[in-house]
Amino acid sequence: MNPIVIATNNPHKIKEIHEILNGAFEVKGLKEIGCTEELPETTGTIPGNAVQKARYVFDHYGVDCFAEDTGLEIDALNGAPGVDTAHYAGPERDALANMNLVLQQLEGLGDRSARFRTVIALILGGELHTFEGVAEGRIANTRSGQDGFGYDPIFIPEGHEQTFAELSSEIKNAISHRGRAMEKLKAFLMSD
Ligand code: IMP
Repeated sequence: MNPIVIATNNPHKIKEIHEILNGAFEVKGLKEIGCTEELPETTGTIPGNAVQKARYVFDHYGVDCFAEDTGLEIDALNGAPGVDTAHYAGPERDALANMNLVLQQLEGLGDRSARFRTVIALILGGELHTFEGVAEGRIANTRSGQDGFGYDPIFIPEGHEQTFAELSSEIKNAISHRGRAMEKLKAFLMSD
């Protein structure tokens, strides 16, 4: 199997993907194929954005690749931030401002249930395959923990009392939205 390009520039995602893959198949970064531009994500849905990013890399560089898009869905906010997760508090995509906005919007509300959803779009030999991973949980009352990235300090996964930012990367990867979607991708590629 040829190396598969990871179609993301997010260093946190790349780190987790490498940890989860643990060498299961060979991957390459976007820079190694000369792709340094921002990938488009304008479809308005999480699966749509994952497919759009993967198709962009395939159409412009002609390589097997996979892209992922992730959103945080909060029940009391009718599924927001959803597809707007990255820029919820503004175009600066500031993680702290995003978390503070969520905490402020949930103040005084009893229902704090939420989930992370990741969709991976794989283009292999020109054919599209998608894989979804969901991590159920709840939004904490305050930020806790130093590890991870994005909204990790305010997300407590189901079955745990600590946030993703307090749990080890091994635990996060084993139960996370990204970990679950990646396991499906891995199983698909290994069964070929
Ligand atoms: P995107 O998939 O790159 O559009 O990212 C969506 C948003 O979700 C960004 O604000 C990320 O920081 C955040 N995000 C993605 N994955 C995770 C995660 O595993 N934990 C916490 N936040 C995440």
